[in-house]
Amino acid sequence: MWQFCEVLVKKSATCKFRYFDLKKNIGKFDFQQPVEEVQETFSEFSRESEKLLEEGSDARMYLQETLSGHCEMAEEFATWKWELPIRISAACGWGLPDSNELFVGMHGAETPLHFDERENLFFQIRGQKEIVVFPFVDYKRLYPFPTTHPCDRQSMVGSPVDPDVTAFPEFLGAVGHFATLKAGDLLYLPYGWWHWLRNLEHMAMSISFWSTTPSTDFANGIPDKFTDHMLTRVKRNLESLIAQQFGPENLNSSMLDLKKAVESKEDVAVLQYARSLLSAVKLPPEEQDGFLLEVVQGRFGIDWNRYV
Ligand code: FUM
Ligand code: FE
Repeated sequence: MWQFCEVLVKKSATCKFRYFDLKKNIGKFDFQQPVEEVQETFSEFSRESEKLLEEGSDARMYLQETLSGHCEMAEEFATWKWELPIRISAACGWGLPDSNELFVGMHGAETPLHFDERENLFFQIRGQKEIVVFPFVDYKRLYPFPTTHPCDRQSMVGSPVDPDVTAFPEFLGAVGHFATLKAGDLLYLPYGWWHWLRNLEHMAMSISFWSTTPSTDFANGIPDKFTDHMLTRVKRNLESLIAQQFGPENLNSSMLDLKKAVESKEDVAVLQYARSLLSAVKLPPEEQDGFLLEVVQGRFGIDWNRYV
């Protein structure tokens, strides 16, 4: 019966499947969605994608569907070996895996560089997939879109194998970890780690199981020194708080004002606000200017549509 059910299929004119969320466009960016999303059956997806390959088209299709909530899957679900993801999640102190996604991709279909704010157990089920990962702390080298943009959490560099190093020079300092995932492999993608994937075979198939990381417990006070991982989260939170404080549509001008104020040592409201947040996380005053410039550099005052 499952073959008659509809699933989410993404269609792209190229091999790139840039993720976006129109609901997150609180910055009111001028944004044309780069990928079409349709509901269709697996048979339709399979037939149409075979046709694209036969025609030698550059267009690609990528099935990306959450499996929970598909009652036709219930029997199949019950046969899966849940002990493994449950045991790993418990041992690592995460919440139980509570969301999942099936990925079935055409040969060459790519998921551009991005990070997720969850722990991911990524199972390669069928065929091979190429992956490049970077640690979360490479944030400044991977130039994320503004947090108020529909492509929040996505890197403007897009592809680590074809980066625009003129626009994103810091990327040259990032060290990626490459792997080819084969059927039967399990990859752990920690919270925040950047990843880029490319299907090396037609109808390569993976399933992600995501768990939540417990939030850091500051009940006994703020630590004297934040780890680089925590400071990366601070970068992201700082930007979101500036958007809230000075208006999400004004984030670009607020961030450019911030940069100008740091460089010219002016005392303006956005800089005072940023300094109060950084002092709250005990970032020493002498490290604050460099930290703020890293958040703004290369990410604002540009034409974001070029990198979608
Ligand atoms: O294409 C993919 O398999 C993407 C996976 C992910 O972003 O978690
Ligand atoms: Fe992801």
